[in-house]
Amino acid sequence: MSQQSLHAFYEPNLRLTRAYGLLGYNAGYAQNRSEGSFDQHQKDLVWRLIGNVPITPESTVLDVGCGIGGPSSWIFERFRPARVMGLEFCPSSVRAAERNWTGKASRPYFIHGDAHHLPFPNDSVDVIFNLESALHYSDKNRFIAECHRVLKPGGTLCLGDICTRWRRTFRCFEMLDNVAGQFSTQSHLWSPDQYREAFDANRFELVRYEDVTQGASDSLYGGLMMIGKKGWKAAKGFRGRFFYLRFVEWLLRFRLMSYDLFNVVKK
Ligand SMILES: C[S@@+](CC[C@H](N)C(=O)[O-])C[C@H]1O[C@@H](n2cnc3c(N)ncnc32)[C@H](O)[C@@H]1O
Repeated sequence: MSQQSLHAFYEPNLRLTRAYGLLGYNAGYAQNRSEGSFDQHQKDLVWRLIGNVPITPESTVLDVGCGIGGPSSWIFERFRPARVMGLEFCPSSVRAAERNWTGKASRPYFIHGDAHHLPFPNDSVDVIFNLESALHYSDKNRFIAECHRVLKPGGTLCLGDICTRWRRTFRCFEMLDNVAGQFSTQSHLWSPDQYREAFDANRFELVRYEDVTQGASDSLYGGLMMIGKKGWKAAKGFRGRFFYLRFVEWLLRFRLMSYDLFNVVKK
């Protein structure tokens, strides 16, 4: 997957998030479809994924696939850990993340990089946060092995991703493969069981799992309704994405795709 294609894919999102002052690129989590803003739901998904994972003033946190820096910024502001580093493959998103923190002395840092080759030493990070990004990776096993390498012993990987249990069934239609293609990647969505097996194989212990498909679908629905009502017409180039995201919301609602959260600890 080239940077250009990823940039082309996220460009409409970038314009839209600017238009609405949003900082996140994720589906969000809503307890209730009709309550709360999309911005708040995106933050709530971050808190839901972190759960009870300890982030202290001494912690080093790495946010892989940080997008335009929403989750890194929220984690930094809430927990004030020693360091928050956001790593992102798409250079325009790194620039957008940087822009919000220019000139501030105490801040998260954003770097350009690839989840398959984390540019950090062994045993150097306390918490890796990875939200709705691994669906893009052509080699998720390699990413999980990289997380194991850079985490300190006892460190936690908080991973949230869109999954599917239906890949085999739909393979003949290539339907879900096309969905993955829409995410501008040659990779395939994994099932939660594939994640569990990969964590096992990479010597991670699963300490928490949650299926938040309903909450993600409700939040995405609310976000799309807000955009639809308030002026998605103004966000040039977003129409195709709008209907594509409606399709994703529909797949989540009917559980052809799921939204799964994992906390795993390096043994
Ligand atoms: C759906 S967005 C989620 C962004 C962010 N985690 C959030 O919740 O706002 C997925 C992000 O993963 C990034 N990404 C995709 N492949 C990547 C890779 N190989 N390495 C690092 N980031 C990647 C994309 O550019 C995109 O910004």
